[in-house]
Amino acid sequence: MKILGVSCSPRKKGNTVILLEEMLRGAAEHGADIELFSISGKDIRGCDGCYSCIAKGECHIQDDMQPLYEKLIAADGIVFGSPIHFYGMTAQAKAIMDRSFALNKPGKNLANKVGGVIVVAGSIGIIDALKDYYFFITLKQMLPANFVAAYATGKGDAKRLKKGMDAAFRLGEEIVQLVDKKFEFPPEFPRNFFAFGTHTH
Ligand SMILES: Cc1cc2nc3c(=O)[nH]c(=O)nc-3n(C[C@H](O)[C@H](O)[C@H](O)COP(=O)(O)O)c2cc1C
Repeated sequence: MKILGVSCSPRKKGNTVILLEEMLRGAAEHGADIELFSISGKDIRGCDGCYSCIAKGECHIQDDMQPLYEKLIAADGIVFGSPIHFYGMTAQAKAIMDRSFALNKPGKNLANKVGGVIVVAGSIGIIDALKDYYFFITLKQMLPANFVAAYATGKGDAKRLKKGMDAAFRLGEEIVQLVDKKFEFPPEFPRNFFAFGTHTH
């Protein structure tokens, strides 16, 4: 079983990474193979709206999203982590969501993977990021796991949040338990398009 933590903080070893690492420690204690992917120092560009991924099932933009695609596909459980930047998730977190448009083919999508979330704010904005992440998790037909919301500002401050660190550890344990359930959406359930307009005919 592979559990992936995706940190969308540009800060190296910041609070999001600290909490994700604690989550991964919880998962590892229950036998999971763990990996952390941090966008810090990486090149994750925004979607250019070319739509070529709909037919090809892959994105033409050659940047650090390419290895992340592979890791997302290989994972059984994914915990998305982002600090709050200007009252929402970071630009990189949103770019990863947009670029996941390319994960739309059988065997190359996020369906039936377990999804959890860790968000960190100095003061305001957590609920907006959580809503966006759980909408994403629903739309991708992932099985939603719990979230951890933490309030910390300075680099490393999250370590002092004992209850927050404990909750992150438990989230890792919970993700492993949920993956073990081998949940699957019925294959006949529609994927991707739940809103209708002239383009859907
Ligand atoms: C550009 C920028 C914008 C931020 N905007 C907010 C905000 O709108 N609301 C908030 O509560 N904290 C905000 N913060 C504070 C961070 O969420 C906080 O420092 C957090 O601990 C950073 O997590 P990290 O160490 O994982 O990067 C902002 C920080 C930066 C650098």
